[in-house]
Amino acid sequence: MSSRGMTVDQFLVRKKQGPPLTMVTAYDAPTARLLSTAGIDIALVGDTLAMVVQGRENTLPVTIDEMIYHTRLVKNGLEGPLLVSDMPFLSYQISEEEGHRNAGRLVKEAGAQAVKIEGGREIAGLVRRLTLSMIPVIGHIGMKPMGIHQMGGFRVQGRDAESRRQIVSDAKALVEAGACALLLEAIPATLGQEITRMSPVPTIGIGAGPHTDGQVLVFHDLVGWTPAPLPRFVRTFGNARSSFENALSGFREAVQNRTFPSPDETYAEEREKRPQKSGKPKGKDA
Ligand code: KIV
Repeated sequence: MSSRGMTVDQFLVRKKQGPPLTMVTAYDAPTARLLSTAGIDIALVGDTLAMVVQGRENTLPVTIDEMIYHTRLVKNGLEGPLLVSDMPFLSYQISEEEGHRNAGRLVKEAGAQAVKIEGGREIAGLVRRLTLSMIPVIGHIGMKPMGIHQMGGFRVQGRDAESRRQIVSDAKALVEAGACALLLEAIPATLGQEITRMSPVPTIGIGAGPHTDGQVLVFHDLVGWTPAPLPRFVRTFGNARSSFENALSGFREAVQNRTFPSPDETYAEEREKRPQKSGKPKGKDA
């Protein structure tokens, strides 16, 4: 990432020279701050918001207004990573005009620097139109979570020759329409490699094997906050769930056995001189 932050024009350099791109989802400002300090390249306000934050069964219910709201929250905490926002279900499928207007809202009202759209050949017209109006687009192909009812669940795609051909032709159509990157989800590693070789723009994989130009994970999965079972392609790099659980049960026990708050955590009538603890209020009363 350069000192002015990640931009779409650096994608091609990263494809040629590496290192692989890192993309992680974020839905609020504190998470955006974590991504920024960790040096992550791209923050994705994914429509997984519906599942990991709103507690829904799939991504379909999330609305464009909710995506705008959460994109603004992420922008407030982000410094460095490129801000990409997802186009939610039915925000672009009804007409290209509507898709154009909604993508524009994510950029204009929320501060997104690019949008991600699920779809292949069928969205090529919209991708061309957005690209011409200077909205960079990441095309999302392979397993498209919005197709859950058609697929009968979240299923790996591109395993047979016909489905593989369709995905390759989706990739070509998106690249020709001007997509700045391709997100490849839940496909065999050999297909991830084939698309990465033929694509002039970077591929970012999730369950697409090790050969893509970058990798993306959902924040809650990556830090170990999502309860099991997790998809095969997720690696958990942290233990957030148990550390939050320990903190909460520690609080409950300390309140119930009256060890919290201690005298050090309590205001006296007379102001006393005590060393400041980090994270404590620093107002005139502190
Ligand atoms: O919405 C999302 O979080 C995604 C994941 C596949 C990264 O698209």
